[in-house]
Order: sequence, then C-alpha cells, then structure tokens
Amino acid sequence: MKIAISSDHGGNRLRHEIMDLLSELGLDYEDFGPDSDESVDYPDYAKPVADGVASGKFDRGILICGTGIGMSIAANKVKGIRCALVHDVFSAKATRGHNDSNILAMGERVIGPGLAREVATAWLDTSFEGGRHERRVAKLSELEN
Ligand code: RB5
Repeated sequence: MKIAISSDHGGNRLRHEIMDLLSELGLDYEDFGPDSDESVDYPDYAKPVADGVASGKFDRGILICGTGIGMSIAANKVKGIRCALVHDVFSAKATRGHNDSNILAMGERVIGPGLAREVATAWLDTSFEGGRHERRVAKLSELEN
C-alpha cells in the first residue's frame, strides 16, 4: 500500500508522529511537507495528496491540520476523494468498512499522538466491506457529476 501524507503548520508534529508509525508498520509513504513550522495554507498541502490518491498514484492519503476540518474540506473537493475526518477508532473502522474512505484527516489540536496512532492503524488495517455499501459509495460518485 502506497500512502501520501501532508499537513499544514498546525499538523506538523502529528504528521511526523504518523510518519514514524508508517515506518514502524513497514508501509511505503511519500511526504508532501511542509518542511518547517512556518504558517502555510492547508489547501496547498491537501492538493498534492488528494490529486495523488485520485489519480491512483497512491492507494491512500493522510492529511493533518489543526482541526483536520480544513484539510478534509479541501480534499473532498477533488473528484474521486472520500476523505473522512476521524478522531476515534470506531469511526476509523466504520469509514473504511462502509464509506471506502481513501483519505484520513485528523486534527493535531484535537487528538493526542497515542490515540492518533490507534486511529491511523485501525483505518489502514480495515478493508471496505462492499455489498450494500458498494451501491452507496457509487451514489457518492454520482453526486460529483
Ligand atoms: C491553522 O491555524 C488552522 O486554521 C488549520 O490548521 C486548520 O485547523 C484548518 O481547518
């Protein structure tokens, strides 16, 4: 599984924590920054991750800002993206199983590093259940047209 990850300045520390987790899990990832704590605009950093997932270059994406909200709004503007803003393990599993979410957004100012690691691990480990959820996800795609 190839993963794209980025944050804004508000998510920098948690992004590094999650990159450590991805390395520990032996997962292949590409980091789209930013390289410093300087204030940046989250849509600029959501775009390469969302485009990379939408194009199929990456299987999944992870986006982190202060709340996770700006990143999730930005990512969901890109056709083909189903970005879920998640701060608990139940929702992490449910959004993979039911929504086939392809990007996970989290907020560094909302969640601690320990829970964020558990959320990301659950989200990465859970498969889409298909079945009746297939029809619903197809209807999400119809809304894009
Ligand atoms: C940056 O201050 C903050 O607005 C951003 O990280 C994010 O929370 C936006 O949704």
